[in-house]
Amino acid sequence: MNESILERYGPLAKDIREVVISEEEIRRRVAELGRAISNDYAGKCPVLVGVLKGVLFLMADLLRVIEIPVEVDFLAVASYSAEARNKGMVRLIKDLEIPIYGRHVLFVEDVIDTGLTLNYLLNSLRDRQPASLEVCVLFNKPAHRLLDIPLRYKGFDLPDRFVVGYGLDLRERYRNLPFIGLLKPEAVKEQGHLPGCP
Ligand code: IMP
Ligand code: MG
Repeated sequence: MNESILERYGPLAKDIREVVISEEEIRRRVAELGRAISNDYAGKCPVLVGVLKGVLFLMADLLRVIEIPVEVDFLAVASYSAEARNKGMVRLIKDLEIPIYGRHVLFVEDVIDTGLTLNYLLNSLRDRQPASLEVCVLFNKPAHRLLDIPLRYKGFDLPDRFVVGYGLDLRERYRNLPFIGLLKPEAVKEQGHLPGCP
């Protein structure tokens, strides 16, 4: 156990084997992305669109470093069967509230792996004829990419490993770790080992 991780981040961090991207690195990179977005979209009042729930942390931090007027909205999705999921089909369980016809839309995503989910959602947004549609992703996992999706803003390339933290979960846990970390193998297998959790 890395004592310093535990001391700094508390009981939730006891399942972490290794910090892959630190809190400070994330903060610096998000600030850079915010500056680039502020410059590129000056005078355009873009709509930032995110998919709940993983994007919460990135969206909140990004919004705080963007220095131009923006609007924000969220989608929520549920996956169908495993088979449908493999085709990237998702069921929209919460749609946007802001009409995006003729608007500049920036799709903000925490992590892209195969790209199937993102591609499906981008097509759905494109049907509504926004003035422009670009993607900002913080964590890019290129190893399993099935579709070539242009990423206008990209935070970090991640190795082909399952990671948690900064919004990324394993069975809904660990989202609230402020860094990106690798779990210990025993934590990946078990459930309900965290203090106080059902
Ligand atoms: P894909 O790009 O369609 O394969 O789906 C990406 C989704 O898979 C993300 O929105 C996450 O919910 C999940 N995901 C991919 N990699 C990770 C990871 O390392 N940790 C946690 N969730 C992940
Ligand atoms: Mg996501």
